[in-house]
Amino acid sequence: MRSLIAGNWKMHGTLAWARDQARRLAEKAASGLPCDVLICPPATLLGTVAEPLRNAGILVGAQDCHHATHGAFTGDIAATMLADLGCSHVLVGHSERRTIHRESSHDAMRKAVAAHQAGLIAIVCIGENRDERRAGKAFETAAGQLARSLPADATAANTVIAWEPVWAIGTGDTANAADVVAMHRLVKQQLSALLGDGVRVLYGGSVNPSNSRELLAIEHVDGLLVGGASLDPDIFWQIATDGAPD
Ligand code: 13P
Repeated sequence: MRSLIAGNWKMHGTLAWARDQARRLAEKAASGLPCDVLICPPATLLGTVAEPLRNAGILVGAQDCHHATHGAFTGDIAATMLADLGCSHVLVGHSERRTIHRESSHDAMRKAVAAHQAGLIAIVCIGENRDERRAGKAFETAAGQLARSLPADATAANTVIAWEPVWAIGTGDTANAADVVAMHRLVKQQLSALLGDGVRVLYGGSVNPSNSRELLAIEHVDGLLVGGASLDPDIFWQIATDGAPD
């Protein structure tokens, strides 16, 4: 399966910074895309970077969407609006949305439906926190989130799963190979029972150029969701290069 390397800029960046990022990424892409590369900027920057990135063959996604197509939802953004801006993907159920904004798996599922109806690929994020892992409930938590976050219309073509253990996000504490193997195997088994084979499963959490090659070599790891290390195009491209087929 072709790897997907996705960068989540989270809440970072001004227009000038984003233009420069897009220019530098496009320069790198001009010498060849190693794999599928996706950038998810904050919504304020999508209008500026979507076109130059897409012209360079880089996919563009958003970090969240609302479940409705329009209406009185102050501050929210519809999936249809993201599609209109040139997005092909949207993250739903990121742990920062689940924790800080108290979003549930049901919320993530409704957002995924909206994404699909707008023609977007939903990247459904799941992941246990440190307490759940310490209590031996990592698999149960991730499997429960996956079952409740996946909409009935999900297919391998319109859905990507990202396992991002919360304890590994922004901590430098990347999951070890054994943990990644075990979780990705479980998620793939669950997906193949629900949707058949071919759904991409990404790993996220403190990915950097010194661990990306090892992570991508693990069976059932079909790509990476990169936070902090995606803010520097040189570093991000090193990671993307590791996504090239052997
Ligand atoms: P870091 O790569 O900064 O740990 O963030 C991971 C993440 O949350 C990507 O969505």
